[in-house]
Amino acid sequence: MQRGKFLTIEGTEGVGKSTNLTFVRDWLVARGIEVIVTREPGGTPLAEEVRSLLLSKRDEPVDETAELLLVFAARAQHLTQLIKPALARGAWVLSDRFTDATYAYQGGGRGLSKATINQLEQLVQGDLRPDLTLILDIDVELGLNRARQRGELDRFESETIGFFERVRAAYRQRAESSPLRYALVDAGKTLPEVQAEIDSLLSKLLA
Ligand code: TMP
Repeated sequence: MQRGKFLTIEGTEGVGKSTNLTFVRDWLVARGIEVIVTREPGGTPLAEEVRSLLLSKRDEPVDETAELLLVFAARAQHLTQLIKPALARGAWVLSDRFTDATYAYQGGGRGLSKATINQLEQLVQGDLRPDLTLILDIDVELGLNRARQRGELDRFESETIGFFERVRAAYRQRAESSPLRYALVDAGKTLPEVQAEIDSLLSKLLA
């Protein structure tokens, strides 16, 4: 049995991840591919509980290393319970965020060292990495305005513009450093333009 492919979608707040995630899922299903759609932090009952801990606003300041470890604790559970078994039986896995978000948010945003994140990545994932990561890229303020229209902001959405500028820069840097693994998609274009680009990326991956 051939291992399924692992796709992830990333970007700063309000970039249109959900809409494009649905587009990718429908594209794959239309070609007869079994696809498991999931998200991080989350994807299993325990990991979803960790997600609530991470996203809820609280009076107690959250230690950055505690945040980093919670993200990877959820990821370990997600990998063992859902991602690895699905890939092993040949299904494709499509995740709304994965470890690139840790490099962007905890690394770029919070300023934690890449070397530390890399150590945890090795510990939790071994050599498992996504086959393709779509990084949707948009002007930070434009995206935040969209996110604000969705309702109350969570702990991350309440961060400063400067934080999100650093998150965006970290994503762009990752895309530039490994053009084969990443596709940087200009999400400021119209939806049909964005989806035409995603269509062509997926066609290449399937070929
Ligand atoms: P979202 O999936 O609705 O965008 O919310 C998830 C939030 O969690 C988002 O603000 C980014 C943050 N996050 C991290 O800080 N580190 C991570 O590793 C992941 C997966 C998400």
